[in-house]
Amino acid sequence: MKRVIVDGLLFVLLILLMGFQVLPKPLHEALGVVMGVFVPLHLAWNAKWFSSLGRGAWNVRRIISVVVNIGLTVSFAVALVSGLAIANRLFPGLFGVAWQRSIVAHQAHVAASYWLLIISGLHLGLHWTPLWTRFVRWRGWDVSSMRYHIGVRRAKVAIFIFGVAGSFLHRIGDRLLMKHIFGTAATKLPSPAFLLVLVAIFGLYAIIGQKIETNR
Ligand code: HEM
Ligand code: HEM
Repeated sequence: MKRVIVDGLLFVLLILLMGFQVLPKPLHEALGVVMGVFVPLHLAWNAKWFSSLGRGAWNVRRIISVVVNIGLTVSFAVALVSGLAIANRLFPGLFGVAWQRSIVAHQAHVAASYWLLIISGLHLGLHWTPLWTRFVRWRGWDVSSMRYHIGVRRAKVAIFIFGVAGSFLHRIGDRLLMKHIFGTAATKLPSPAFLLVLVAIFGLYAIIGQKIETNR
């Protein structure tokens, strides 16, 4: 249960941090640091996974999960360190003024954050089936019913369409490539709609991650 709460908090923190424009700037910096505390906690609770890396056979599933976890660690570390370097509210000039003003550090911060959003989506998708099974059992839903299947399919189609549309609206490709972008059509949306665009982009990759997991 503790783990599910931390996983949920990580998700909420990630979306709030990605929705930079929606929050006061000092709060963004504070939440970034909070995420810097929760991720090691999440890793500590999953320590078994690291200790088991040296044992057992290697299959495609294992390789994918290692690549995804390395991607997560690197993108998170770059987002956190570059964030502290460019901080100008709570920790101004922490690494010196040159870093604080560095365009490269700003662009690295944005690119790493968007890589983190996408890879986190894949990561949750790879873990989705057991979490969803527990949730469905708790709700007492009849998984063999037509209603359930239609509901799940509709939700997936909606997330997919909004995720793809949101990726274009928010120019995700350009952000991942470190291009310098100010506003996008998505940032002009009302705050709740902008946050939903970010959730849909995350969800799109979670659907892909779950597909990889179930088709392996
Ligand atoms: C930000 C950096 C993150 C890193 C480095 C990380 C790393 C890991 C590792 C090493 C594991 C165990 C190995 C595995 O089975 O893949 C794991 C499990 C898991 N992670 Fe993450 N993770 C991160 C973020 C997130 C986020 C944002 C979420 C939620 C949206 C999440 C959800 C999960 C879930 C559901 C599991 C399965 C075990 C559990 O419930 O704790 N992780 N993560
Ligand atoms: C790992 C967690 C973090 C994520 C996912 C994240 C994400 C973001 C995003 C998406 C932006 C908006 C970029 C744009 O579209 O222009 C941003 C900007 C910013 N972030 Fe973070 N951030 C994180 C951690 C931090 C930390 C720890 C700090 C400082 C302590 C920080 C400081 C800043 C600053 C100063 C900006 C403004 C950059 C500018 O002026 O262009 N961030 N962050």
